[in-house]
Amino acid sequence: MKNQNKKYALLTGASQGIGKAMAHELASKNINLLLVSLKGEGLADFCTEIQNKYNVDAKYFETDFYQYDSVYDVAKWAISNYSVNILINNAGIGGTKAFESATPEYIDNIIQVNVRTTSLLTRLMLPELKKQDKSYILNVASMASFSPFAFKTVYPASKAFIYSFSRGLHEELKGTNVFVSVIHPGPVKTNADVTARIEKQGFFGKIGQVSPQELARIAIKQLLKRDSLILPGILNKLNWVLMMLLPNAWKLPILSRVVRKEINSLNPVGLKLSTIKQ
Ligand SMILES: NC(=O)c1ccc[n+]([C@@H]2O[C@H](COP(=O)([O-])OP(=O)(O)OC[C@H]3O[C@@H](n4cnc5c(N)ncnc54)[C@H](OP(=O)(O)O)[C@@H]3O)[C@@H](O)[C@H]2O)c1
Repeated sequence: MKNQNKKYALLTGASQGIGKAMAHELASKNINLLLVSLKGEGLADFCTEIQNKYNVDAKYFETDFYQYDSVYDVAKWAISNYSVNILINNAGIGGTKAFESATPEYIDNIIQVNVRTTSLLTRLMLPELKKQDKSYILNVASMASFSPFAFKTVYPASKAFIYSFSRGLHEELKGTNVFVSVIHPGPVKTNADVTARIEKQGFFGKIGQVSPQELARIAIKQLLKRDSLILPGILNKLNWVLMMLLPNAWKLPILSRVVRKEINSLNPVGLKLSTIKQ
């Protein structure tokens, strides 16, 4: 039997980077945690660390969102055992590649984690969130939501989906007990791959850059203040205004030249007919 009075935040992508920093931030505000990530990333030890440091409850579920049923498994586990009043869809992947260098799996994986997992987990958790007095959903998008980019193509499109999905759902759930917000980080030095890509962007990589800890602090503070569109820091706010004002014909070539610096090769990857599923 689950304890209806003990509330939890369900957080995906919790083992590293922004998700890990958000877990610390939530726990520091006395919020119990349900942490979700890939297998073998030390979530058990992380839960123990959180429990000892903040004296909150922390449970974990290891799964791989590339697997079709994984979203259902996470929702079933959370709903059957815990009362959830916060959902944070943070797990997300990206990359920089010429489109012809991208394998079908690379494209599929971005769509699975960023688009399918975010929208489906939200749908599956909504009845549970509606049972609580007050609930919050936070989706992690990106500044890349606000413009197409060459050499990223699928990633900004997936983040534009998260932006559009979140804003639409926010409007739809207005007047209910469920509040929906979306955050748009600029560059955040998290894992080695992301850090290397940000450094290759030079000056542009520094605009709006914040640490994972600062981003987490802003995200949770603004979410609980019911800010429905979170742009972390003054430079990201200015960047957003520019992105809104400039036509694609101007911003697209400039931004694409910046991300082009992140990749060494434009060589196409051959596709065998046998890799094309019927
Ligand atoms: N860093 C930036 O500059 C930046 C900028 C804008 C937006 N964002 C967004 O912020 C979010 C977090 O990014 P980050 O930089 O902190 O990335 P990260 O360090 O790579 O963390 C991503 C998280 O997602 C989880 N994840 C990835 N693939 C998964 C899968 N197949 N199944 C289950 N979990 C999976 C990872 O789990 P494991 O630890 O188990 O691998 C990890 O905890 C993402 O949505 C990203 O798009 C980041």
